[in-house]
Amino acid sequence: MSIASSSHATVRAVLGSLFHTPEYGSFELLERALLELDDAGFIERVTLPGDAGYDERVAAARAADELDPGSLLELTDGRYGLPGFVDLHVHAPQWPQAGVALDEPLDVWLDQRTFPLEARFSDPFFAHGVSLDLAETFLSRGTTTALYFGSAHLEGSWELARACTEAGQRAVVGKVVMDDPAANHDFYRDASPEQALADTEEFLGRVAGLDRELRAGDPRFAGVYAAVTPRFIPSCTDEVLSGLGKMAAEHGAYIQSHCNEGEWEHGVAPERYGVSDARALADFGLLGPRSVMAHCTYMDEADTELFRETGTAVAHCPISNAYFANSACPVRRMREHGVKIGLGTDVSGGFSPSLYDNIRQAVMASRMLEDGVDALVPIERRGAGRPSRISVAEALYLATKGGAEALSLPVGSFEVGRAFDMQVVDVRRPYADLTGFDVFTEPGDVLARILYLATPDNIRQVWVQGRQVIDRG
Ligand code: GUN
Ligand code: FE
Repeated sequence: MSIASSSHATVRAVLGSLFHTPEYGSFELLERALLELDDAGFIERVTLPGDAGYDERVAAARAADELDPGSLLELTDGRYGLPGFVDLHVHAPQWPQAGVALDEPLDVWLDQRTFPLEARFSDPFFAHGVSLDLAETFLSRGTTTALYFGSAHLEGSWELARACTEAGQRAVVGKVVMDDPAANHDFYRDASPEQALADTEEFLGRVAGLDRELRAGDPRFAGVYAAVTPRFIPSCTDEVLSGLGKMAAEHGAYIQSHCNEGEWEHGVAPERYGVSDARALADFGLLGPRSVMAHCTYMDEADTELFRETGTAVAHCPISNAYFANSACPVRRMREHGVKIGLGTDVSGGFSPSLYDNIRQAVMASRMLEDGVDALVPIERRGAGRPSRISVAEALYLATKGGAEALSLPVGSFEVGRAFDMQVVDVRRPYADLTGFDVFTEPGDVLARILYLATPDNIRQVWVQGRQVIDRG
């Protein structure tokens, strides 16, 4: 099979100034770093000015570039490399309605707006077109890896998986399961629990086959993986939930769902089972080191400990939470407890396809959680009553290495052994917000300005596993 991305440029070495967050809480600027890549697009060696052999290695990379033009990527002044972002929560079929109907509460928004739209993924051509546009839009915003919900359709979700490989984006994709006839429209649900399980099994097999085939033909293929995807407890029968838990264990598959999202949703499991949403998911075998749960705003101590103990990760979706969560996610409390956390756009509960926008909202929401929001409440009682704020460098970690940890993928930083996934940010674009007149040149200020002010126009190039997928010069 030939895919579009196999014709994209590849690179063997990179010379430039790179920001990343190898540890939570701080950032590093690797100035004029030389990265050397292996055949598969992974970082084999990182050499900095002053390291033994730096000058010789740079000279050798330049000489190699003379013989094989384009094998060395040199970032010019004013350009910085950042790791490609990892988006941990996206609904591909909702992309056409980004920004629509966000005044409704979650249950109404799902039932009246979202499910009729998702039903259109029954048309594979529509599904493919929407998916390809979304994957390319994500790449152009620096998101090189994404964890996707498809639709309830086997074929529509399959088109999503194929489209990601065509765009050159690393993807984890799920066929959504929503089988309960009492909770779902007849025009948009799995026909039965048996059918839902059979379609999920078929989907896991097909995606594994696609990954094998593309990997065999191309050592720099970035990977496509399948996730077992019960939509959320309110839309599934017990039979399907326990069947999916068993299937995920048998296949060692990723699992994704929604957990403890908002006032209505987090009340459903206690009513139905007498335990929390998180505990119920765990009892069905759906929490574990390959699980990523979206939102997780209503996390008491027991739920937080359950996530830590099982190795379950949180997809923090701060823009979406402002609309549907009725609260702010306690990111700092969960991180300090040892829970894995990354960021998600939640397109289209979150209107923006950009993790830059979500980094900004993650910082702002954490400040509001700490300080509180209602000025009529005295300051001592207004906020969460504990330190809750996160810094912009911490939010960058969530968007990069936090996502990598959640998916156990070697991405998210410029460390040896990680895939070379990079976005090139030009801070000197004309008519852009980032101009700044070179007044604040300390690395922390440069990085903060990039994270707060970069727009898609500043992102000139994007690379996935050593292959260029976006080239704006
Ligand atoms: N819970 C179940 N499905 C959805 C969805 O599509 N979006 C959000 N935000 N929450 C959900
Ligand atoms: Fe969601």
